[in-house]
Amino acid sequence: MDAIDVIRAKRDGDRLSAEQIRWVIAAYTDGRVPDEQMSALLMAVFFRGMDGDELAVWTQSMIDSGVRKDLSSLGRPTADKHSTGGVGDKITLPLAPLVAACGVAVPQLSGRGLGHTGGTLDKLEAIPGWRASLTDAEYIGQLRDVGAVICAAGNDLAPADKLLYALRDVTGTVESIPLIASSIMSKKIAEGADALVLDVKTGSGAFMRDTDDARTLARTMVGLGTAAGVRTVALVTAMDRPLGRAAGNAVEVAESVEVLAGGGPADVVELTLALAREMLAGVGRSDVDPAEVLASGRAMDAWRAMIAAQGGDPDAALPQPRERHVVTAPATGTLTRLDAYAVGVAAWRLGAGRARKEDPVSASAGVVWHAGVGEQVTAGQPLLELHTDDAARLPRALEALEGAVGVDTDDVLLPLVLERITA
Ligand code: URA
Repeated sequence: MDAIDVIRAKRDGDRLSAEQIRWVIAAYTDGRVPDEQMSALLMAVFFRGMDGDELAVWTQSMIDSGVRKDLSSLGRPTADKHSTGGVGDKITLPLAPLVAACGVAVPQLSGRGLGHTGGTLDKLEAIPGWRASLTDAEYIGQLRDVGAVICAAGNDLAPADKLLYALRDVTGTVESIPLIASSIMSKKIAEGADALVLDVKTGSGAFMRDTDDARTLARTMVGLGTAAGVRTVALVTAMDRPLGRAAGNAVEVAESVEVLAGGGPADVVELTLALAREMLAGVGRSDVDPAEVLASGRAMDAWRAMIAAQGGDPDAALPQPRERHVVTAPATGTLTRLDAYAVGVAAWRLGAGRARKEDPVSASAGVVWHAGVGEQVTAGQPLLELHTDDAARLPRALEALEGAVGVDTDDVLLPLVLERITA
């Protein structure tokens, strides 16, 4: 097999054979195909795409570069969720313990934030003592004892994706639906859950801004999951405005705890329950009502156990920022716009996110808003609160927020869940 033949075939619009795909992914992962040839192939895929059969083999080859976990020894159904990433998207934090409290184990291998969207592990690391890395034995033990784990993926989970994603990042080949779908689904299928719910975001703060693209990505991923024997459903959800009332690390943990305590912003509660219902349905447990379990306090118990099992102190005070800056509402009326991307960039510039994988993040930085889109505001009332440890970061964060807020007399009707996509 020769990498040049594979590149030429895709460049010229031919279908790649299963043997070609299996060979090129394996040979790239073990270093026989160099970055420059893989870059050329990725660019050819970017322009030419892949059909369903090619994509299924491409994804399976990425899974086969590592191990597909076997969770059957748990003796309990397993379900997971993946979000394509958004601003203020802390849903995994209340969702994993909630579904665990409903009797379904949640094996959630998560990542860190990059750019304007936050990462689940960064958020949980705001909790004093909490650690993201677990051994395989700790991971299985916690799934058995607590029923929920949120931790860092080990090196055996689709290692081809780690290499390919890093290469895509520097070669302008990230925004390709087959490459995104195979990247996400190779990791999620390898994780070994029986059922998977995908939260595919659309809008300014999402990876897929355009709803048709989000729908196509959702359909592609549902197809891959189903073909691999994982019951997969996707919800396409709004990310034109940020979720909840906070974007950052500690502030999102605090908001998640409010939800687990029976309060919290309505949109966070709505999406957490919608995703929980899908996860339960995916493993045949629609008889359990997650709203009842949330109200009973059992999800909070599972949260505390999950945090403590990973060294965290669920009662510890969360880090507080050294500086707070308030932005007031510009007019009286309905808040018609709070742009998700602008809020995400502001939180990132305040220190909550990273520009490069190796950068540290601040636990206490972020943005909190006192009204959500569709609510009434009065001119001069505090609307946004910017948190940072470094006052020098404020001007650039404020710059990101210029034009991000709209106040008008319109009524805005904003569905959160736009579409449900099944196989
Ligand atoms: N998240 C992933 O894991 N992979 C992509 O390609 C894009 C987002």
